[in-house]
This record gives sequence, structure tokens and C-alpha cells, in this order.
Amino acid sequence: MDKRIPYKPPPRRQFFKYLVNSIAAAIGVALGVPLLGFFILPAFKRPKLVWKECGPVDGFPKGTVSLAHLKSLEKRYWPEDWGEEAAWVYRDNEGTFVVYNMHCTHVGCPIRWSAPAHRFFCPCHGGVFDENGNVVAGPPPRPLDRYLVKVENGVLYAETAYERRGQAFEVS
Ligand code: FES
Repeated sequence: MDKRIPYKPPPRRQFFKYLVNSIAAAIGVALGVPLLGFFILPAFKRPKLVWKECGPVDGFPKGTVSLAHLKSLEKRYWPEDWGEEAAWVYRDNEGTFVVYNMHCTHVGCPIRWSAPAHRFFCPCHGGVFDENGNVVAGPPPRPLDRYLVKVENGVLYAETAYERRGQAFEVS
């Protein structure tokens, strides 16, 4: 018969072992939770929409393309004309609006609308787009980028922070 007594660590050693493990776990949680939030939460956050005023709806006749100077709705701390932004507004014959980013989808040169030719032209490498933003000629790899649009109280607004690449516009 085995008369050996099983080894039992002294309670003090056990206590310190638990203490050290608990401190390590607390530090892990304290560092891990904010880090997890930092990396995971943005995926669940809805992007903030930044609406800019294009102008009164009546200023854009049906069946035309017009240049709009976008007016920021947020409080600005510098003169209005600093960093002024523009966009091309197409209002079709039914009255539906499309607001285009005015930069070519090739390398980003500003495009110009020619009413007689009924086309957008890019001066840099000969990119050409129709009024629906589709590439007609040249190297641009995709249609013109569009902004989300809305009409409120007779005023047209464009949301410029998150442009839609070739997606259908929405009106709310
Ligand atoms: Fe417009 Fe190259 S930047 S065609």
C-alpha cells in the first residue's frame, strides 16, 4: 500500500498564482475590449451623410445639364469661396435629377459639358461621357460617379461624402 501523501502547493503560492492570472486577465480585457471596438465598430456604424445645397430646383430646367456650385450646410470657419466644390446636375425630361462628381473616372481631371455635342468631355486623355454618365469614348474605366440626391422644399441637395460608383441615384 502506497503511504505517500500527495503534494499540495502551499496556499500562499496558490493565492499568488491566482492573483497574477487575474491581473493578467484584467489587463487583457482592459486592452482588448477597446481595441476590438476600434476595429469592429466602424463596420457597424452608418456613414454620416454630408448634404450640400445645389440650388433651387427651378434653376435646373428639364432636359438640361447645368453646373452647380455646392453650398455646404455645415458651419464653416473660413470664407465661403475657399475650397468651393462644384458638380454637374442632369435633370432629365421627366424631371429626375442626377448629380455627377465633376471628375473624370480615369485620372480625375475635371470634365466639361458641351450642350451642342450633348456630351461631357475630359480634356486630359479624351474621355467622353453621355448625359447618363456612360463612357462613350476614351480610357475612363467606368461611368461618372454620382452623388445621392434629394429634393426638399424645392431645393436640390447632393450628398458628397460617399459617392456612388455608377449606382442608381436615390431620391428621398
Ligand atoms: Fe479623363 Fe484621362 S483623366 S480621360
